Amino acid sequence: MMRETAATTPIGVGLISVGWMGQLHSKAYRAVPMVYPELGITTRLVQAADSSDARAAFARDVLGYATSALDYREVLANPEVDVVSICAPNFLHAEMGIAAAEAGKSFWIEKPAGRSAAETGAIAAAADAAGVVTSVGFNYRHAPAVEHAKKLIAEGSLGRITNVRGTFFADYSAEPHGALSWRFTRALAGSGVLGDLMGHLVDLMHYLVGPIGEVSAVTSTVYTQRPVLQMGQGTHFAVIENGELGPVENEDYSAMLVRFADDAEGSGAVGTLEASRVAVGPRARYTFEIYGTEGSLSWNFERMNELEVAIGRTGDHIGYTTVYASPGFGDFSRFQPGAGTAMGYDDLKVIEAKKFLVAVSGGERLNSTIHDAVAAARVVSAAEESGISRGWVAIPPTVGTTAAVREPSGVGSRA
Ligand SMILES: NC(=O)c1ccc[n+]([C@@H]2O[C@H](COP(=O)([O-])OP(=O)(O)OC[C@H]3O[C@@H](n4cnc5c(N)ncnc54)[C@H](O)[C@@H]3O)[C@@H](O)[C@H]2O)c1
Repeated sequence: MMRETAATTPIGVGLISVGWMGQLHSKAYRAVPMVYPELGITTRLVQAADSSDARAAFARDVLGYATSALDYREVLANPEVDVVSICAPNFLHAEMGIAAAEAGKSFWIEKPAGRSAAETGAIAAAADAAGVVTSVGFNYRHAPAVEHAKKLIAEGSLGRITNVRGTFFADYSAEPHGALSWRFTRALAGSGVLGDLMGHLVDLMHYLVGPIGEVSAVTSTVYTQRPVLQMGQGTHFAVIENGELGPVENEDYSAMLVRFADDAEGSGAVGTLEASRVAVGPRARYTFEIYGTEGSLSWNFERMNELEVAIGRTGDHIGYTTVYASPGFGDFSRFQPGAGTAMGYDDLKVIEAKKFLVAVSGGERLNSTIHDAVAAARVVSAAEESGISRGWVAIPPTVGTTAAVREPSGVGSRA
């Protein structure tokens, strides 16, 4: 786990794009030495870039980067930068990820890594050719309750996994005058809620249960026009009254039937996954339910520190127990001393930063990788294709992921 370099040598951090995620990555890099002091990992915020003057200045003056720039290439050319966070809008990810790899910089890239499976694959190929370490912003993996769910599934407590149900429902665009940010334009974002939220849910299914092998999907766009928001201003939660309208080019909602890849003999898991960015009621209700022959469990991000668990098919007390994340679950003890005191979303990014920096330092590989992004992107692209063709679409297996591997016996799964 310890870095091979002297414990006092800080890892030089470069940041590309200083929006919501860029700010969060920065906080996370600063937190790692405090939250995980025994690792001997220290960080130095070297240089940040954003095409917006105000955001580049914010990075220098508020976030604490030594210097800032308007052109991201300066960050990649900076010899003091060892690792780079790529937090730009989706359309820039492939260009930036490939450039980072070619500059020999390990990178932590936000999801979806590319606008399509092909683009994500090109980033992965460049990273592999350069031999750099990669991590992807699949933060929900790190919630201690999710890590506990993974452990229960892996040790077989739920028996053979039979079916799953997931809903990633958000209301960030439920308001008809919600801003037309880059997320709604195909050239800038790629798909809509499929890449934005479904990709997270797909990654969780891969991480917990195993690779998805086939999908049949529907998609729909609820609001076809929205008021335009200039790049680098506001957030995608902004509401603009009386603004100039522009077209929404991608889907607000998608649902898919899935078969996991081990279903060849009809004994594998199947299920339904849904995502919406226009749901009224759910705020960020990102949920999954996983059912097995001996039990089931259920998680909801809005109650991130809780896990509903039911184990056993007999007796008078069959039903769910609410289990609170506690020091034995994942990295919970690094943030809170006892159950019932809540961790938050930002803490998940600290765990993600730690896993990335440990891998960069030659330690244990607990990080997600660009290949996990390829696997999720293949499912998203297959769902888009299925939405058009109205048929089932098979997904080719992805090599090099950190997906759960199900035992040949079909009982449980292992990490
Ligand atoms: N992991 C998660 O849960 C999560 C949550 C939100 C966003 N994201 C992802 O993070 C990425 C960024 O999203 P966000 O919400 O932070 O976006 P944002 O709109 O808040 O920020 C994007 C930033 O990129 C900058 N930018 C635009 N063009 C640039 C260029 N050529 N060079 C440098 N900077 C440029 C903009 O000025 C802006 O500051 C997206 O890929 C998104 O999908 C992930």
